[in-house]
Amino acid sequence: MQDNDLLASSAMYLHGKVNLELALLMILPGQDQTLRDMLGAHRPGHGLAGAFYTDPDIYALDVAAIFERQWIFAGATCEIPKPGSFITLTIGRSPVIVLRDRGGEVRAFFNTCRHRGFKICDAAKGHTPALICPYHRWTYRLDGTLANAKHMPADFDPAAYSLVPVHTRVVGGTIYICLADEPPDFAPYQDAMVRQLAPHKLETAKVAFEADLVEYGNWKMVMENSRECYHCATGHGELMRTFLDIYDFANPQDSQPIQDYWNKWDAAGYESRISEGPNYRAARLPLTGSSKSITMDGKPAVKRPLGDAPPDAYGSLRWVHYPSTFNHCINDYTVLVRMLPVGPEETLVTTKFLVDAEAVEGVDYDLDTLTKVWTVTNDQDKALVERNQIGVRSSGYRPGPYSPSLEAGIIKFIDWYRTKLGEYLERAH
Ligand code: FES
Ligand code: FE
Repeated sequence: MQDNDLLASSAMYLHGKVNLELALLMILPGQDQTLRDMLGAHRPGHGLAGAFYTDPDIYALDVAAIFERQWIFAGATCEIPKPGSFITLTIGRSPVIVLRDRGGEVRAFFNTCRHRGFKICDAAKGHTPALICPYHRWTYRLDGTLANAKHMPADFDPAAYSLVPVHTRVVGGTIYICLADEPPDFAPYQDAMVRQLAPHKLETAKVAFEADLVEYGNWKMVMENSRECYHCATGHGELMRTFLDIYDFANPQDSQPIQDYWNKWDAAGYESRISEGPNYRAARLPLTGSSKSITMDGKPAVKRPLGDAPPDAYGSLRWVHYPSTFNHCINDYTVLVRMLPVGPEETLVTTKFLVDAEAVEGVDYDLDTLTKVWTVTNDQDKALVERNQIGVRSSGYRPGPYSPSLEAGIIKFIDWYRTKLGEYLERAH
């Protein structure tokens, strides 16, 4: 391949005009190298080329290189409180079941039967003593081993047909899973979040409300939108009644309210400072004015606190972990957001509201007060993402510059994404 061809191909990508399949036909052999060159041609501090948000082949690459290799947020331990409790989710092309086994351990398996591959469990959540494939009724124990398969020959060895396990980690009441044979190092994030989540006691929570939202935008578009509050002033009037000003968020060292807030958590013996790694960031920040919670009027939504916040320390622990989750722990509730890719231009965003397990709906909280701000905000973000997706799909889209201060979170995410994609292509080469 000539340099000029490569440059032309990369330029077409960068202008979001090209179909990847066509481009690969143009550049074979050496497609990996060209994709690497495309990543290398990315202009630092700028948006990705349009194809990264729309192209089916790059989407398939994202699933293989990112979602099938990284740790993915699955849910909360309180969603599977007893042996036999389970939740299901689909990561790219792979249905997964997460359950609590008879010994109380959290486990995960590919939700695919070892007989002929049927998707075993179709429910989003539930409780079962065993996993029974509805097709021919192969029956698996909660540890994934095959207990029963009728009409198989005498030399059939059930021990050879356990469900395929998925790596699992529990972090302060949250569950992460990884589909890769050899998962990446989770310890730095796990250690940081065990400390950060300690006062919030998510293990003692329950899910008060859960909502799925399909956003017709690429998963990276959804993540990018979540990584900046540049749009908050115009896009999120309800959230900004209580949410701290974006400038303080970007520059905590310059903010006296933040310093005062951190000192209260320090005095209580809890982690108060920012935890950060290449694929995560957790920051504990106060709310505005006299707000005590992220609600329409700033008053707590739940009478019983969730966790152990110090007196008069009203704020939120906000944290993100690429590629699948961003969250807020407030003193009276926690909101967990999971985003999973469905297609090149479709992402499933699931929001779960956790309150203290003893809190009673109608007595200690009402759902409208609890969920209003986030329901409105999520709808606003869906509209923003979908309109952004329409613009980026255009042949006239040219990647623009991010604000180095207010969109630093996006720059970090895009750098991480490009690095992970590059590493995958390097290995595949
Ligand atoms: Fe599951 Fe046949 S495919 S029992
Ligand atoms: Fe938003």
